Amino acid sequence: MTDDHIEALLDRLSRTQQLALVRGATDPEGTATGYLPGVDEAGIPPFRLVDGPLGIRAEGERATAFPASIATAAAFDPDLARRQGAAMGREAAALGQDALLAPGVNLVRVPQCGRNFEYLSEDPVAAGDIGAALVDGIQSAGVVATVKHFVANNQETHRTTVSAEIGERPLRELYLPPFRAAVDAGVGSVMTAYNRVNGTHMSDHERLVGDVLKGEWGFDGYVVSDWYGLESTVGAANAGLDLEMPGVAAPGAADGDEGFEWPDGIPDATRAGLFGDPLADAIDAGEVPADRLTDMVRRVLGQMDRFGRLDGSQGTGDDAGELDSQRHRDLATEVAARGTVLLDNDGVLPLDDGADVAVIGPNVDEPKLGGGGSSETTPFRSVSPVEGIEARAEGDVSSAVGVPRIASVSLFDLLPFVGEDGDAGEDDTAERDPSLDDAVDAAAAADVAVVFVRDATTEARDRDSLALPGRQDDLVSAVAAANENTVVVVRSGGPVALPWREDVAAVLEQWYPGQGDGDAAAAVLYGDRDPSGRLPVTFAPESEYPTAATERRFPGVDDEVHYDEGVFVGYRHFDDANASPTYPFGHGHSYAAFEYGDAEVVDDQTVSVLVENVADRPGREVVQAYVRPPAVDGVERPERELAGFEAIRLDAGQRRTVTLSLDDLAFSRYDSDSGWTVDEGTYTVELGRSSRDVRTTVAFDR
Ligand code: BGC
Repeated sequence: MTDDHIEALLDRLSRTQQLALVRGATDPEGTATGYLPGVDEAGIPPFRLVDGPLGIRAEGERATAFPASIATAAAFDPDLARRQGAAMGREAAALGQDALLAPGVNLVRVPQCGRNFEYLSEDPVAAGDIGAALVDGIQSAGVVATVKHFVANNQETHRTTVSAEIGERPLRELYLPPFRAAVDAGVGSVMTAYNRVNGTHMSDHERLVGDVLKGEWGFDGYVVSDWYGLESTVGAANAGLDLEMPGVAAPGAADGDEGFEWPDGIPDATRAGLFGDPLADAIDAGEVPADRLTDMVRRVLGQMDRFGRLDGSQGTGDDAGELDSQRHRDLATEVAARGTVLLDNDGVLPLDDGADVAVIGPNVDEPKLGGGGSSETTPFRSVSPVEGIEARAEGDVSSAVGVPRIASVSLFDLLPFVGEDGDAGEDDTAERDPSLDDAVDAAAAADVAVVFVRDATTEARDRDSLALPGRQDDLVSAVAAANENTVVVVRSGGPVALPWREDVAAVLEQWYPGQGDGDAAAAVLYGDRDPSGRLPVTFAPESEYPTAATERRFPGVDDEVHYDEGVFVGYRHFDDANASPTYPFGHGHSYAAFEYGDAEVVDDQTVSVLVENVADRPGREVVQAYVRPPAVDGVERPERELAGFEAIRLDAGQRRTVTLSLDDLAFSRYDSDSGWTVDEGTYTVELGRSSRDVRTTVAFDR
């Protein structure tokens, strides 16, 4: 359909029909997270939006449960992320959905944030590259991607009211770029965040939504509110918000208790319809220009048209959809394995095929699918740690739980009117009698003890601390004392405290691995796959993160959270403070070993280096490039910033020249007076295995 056709269609729509295209309604089929009824007489079909981002959460349906987004990011491989995006897009299409509410690209600023598992990284280039690849993949399957939550939704505490007080420089250098990358990748939709930024709710933020996103960046898709996250009619319409979701009160919410107090982090689900009659009234009163409504509808129709919804061309060829296929199952397991980070290894890994293994941990009989909240998916099949190891091991496998089960937590448990999700939050320890002694005995009798530990995080809640919940630390220590070949496999949504790490033989970080859990764990433990993940977030003691410095920084005071650390977030802070993190950004071992040649300048944006696998087994390396800026009087800069990366696979003895193009972001800084600035001088490009393991450098002049 041409632009002229859309204009002609717009002309034919009455105002009532137009209004029905900018405010959500109830999905008669009940599967969608958000629904537009369409306009039958004008040939505009219904439009369904669905969560996101770990797979498809269509009500009453099952779908492939992919690993947490942070696991996808840990693979540092945009091609892999693109494949995952495409698979999620195909599943959304198969389930009759038109837009996927993914990816989430908010930076990991606060290590305790309950949604870190849905996000990608503490670094804007990593989050931007992986986020853009996910967008590209989702949309390649004929489904609209929705990048979220624009912007500065970096904590869950008070998320619906808190104001992120951020300077223009960190906003430009850190928090906005992943969204910009999604826009440059052609994302069809942007979801506004619940929070305020510098005092204004994001749904009403004319400068960031209207001026920056739509103006400066030229975004021509639609801006959708977060669910019940529309603050006002006039403010939002004039700021540039295009679509209110869900548009109708949550079933049951409206007739709930009069005195019901919405828990912190949960939006008031009776607030809906601000883009219904109130928008018509505001237009009549001259408070919102009439052509703003036309523009909203034009943007929604533009994406429907782009993805074949207006001429019925969707649902054919690559867009036909696909659900729970073998290739999707394999991909879910592959991403989980590829995102696995080998934090430490004294040589016990990979395991000998014939080793007798004790599989220990409070939840070894259940997969760790994801965290709680709107990203929860229900898979068709899944593999627990015990099942995965039993299927792979050639030696004896025993198992023990040791300590009480770690219950899942979910925002849905906070809502009296949401009836689903019966087992979340339940602790069924009564049905078992966990005995630490049994776990210790099992460990002592085996060649190797593999302990699976996990945290429990959810949307709408930040974690109280980075410590593993329950008695899991005691369990690891007791097992380690009984067997010197103790391997710990960690399932966490982000950074987590590992107090026993020097007492164990190896530590793997698997994030939330999704339905392929046990298979992915076994593949890495036994060396069928190299642990090719690298940390997209710094691991450090909780008190050393920049947000731990004051309550002003986190969780905030008087509903304001002050980003006083400026651009010194994540590794930028640890470099600046000259502090040694527990595990630095970019860290992760391989079972192979890599040597780097001398870096070479290819052109003023590109660098290359020869990398050789000097081990006698194949392996995967993530070659990372960081830029160190020249010193400029009076200007504070991070010591180094990630500029590019590439994940490669090398056979034993194989060598390859890796060429990296360097992101402008790493060379420039944002000056509040003069805007983007590249200081003259010599920039050192560091190439290596992590932000703290530089193998070769080369100079660039600017
Ligand atoms: C979340 C969004 C999600 C939406 C719809 C909100 O609570 O913040 O990420 O897409 O709900 O479920």
